[in-house]
Amino acid sequence: AQILVIHGPNLNLLGRREPQIYGTATLEDINRQLAEAARPFPVELDFFQSNHEGEIIDRIHAAFGKAAGILINPGAYTHYSIAIRDAISSVSIPTVEVHLSNIHAREEFRHHSVIAPVAVGQISGFGEYGYTLGLFALVDFIQRKGT
Ligand code: DQA
Repeated sequence: AQILVIHGPNLNLLGRREPQIYGTATLEDINRQLAEAARPFPVELDFFQSNHEGEIIDRIHAAFGKAAGILINPGAYTHYSIAIRDAISSVSIPTVEVHLSNIHAREEFRHHSVIAPVAVGQISGFGEYGYTLGLFALVDFIQRKGT
């Protein structure tokens, strides 16, 4: 099974970007950890990062009928991209939403996710480890669903 891992805007700067909030791991570190965590499972990870809403939507569309799951940190798009939310529901691929920080403990405008209602679930506040947790949860969901 193929799992599409999407990192949204500004996440290419991880490690250098507000490390007190987002930690010191780089995106490459996180992808490496994910690849390691995926090893025991019959899944293949496909990594994608973009700072552009339309590119993220195109990548989700390209996964239609191919990917068994999507692991996504939509970055700031979490809070307002109805277009990314619609792309996820259009392809009906099980999706897990991940955030490094606890979005519910931060500024008011980060408390709401427009993605959450179309996701299987959300993991928020566990830093880089959240991606591994999200991957495990997604693989478990896919396996139980039998796809
Ligand atoms: C984030 C939280 C968002 O509010 C923010 O815009 C990000 C990163 C997180 O991983 O904690 O870019 O998604």
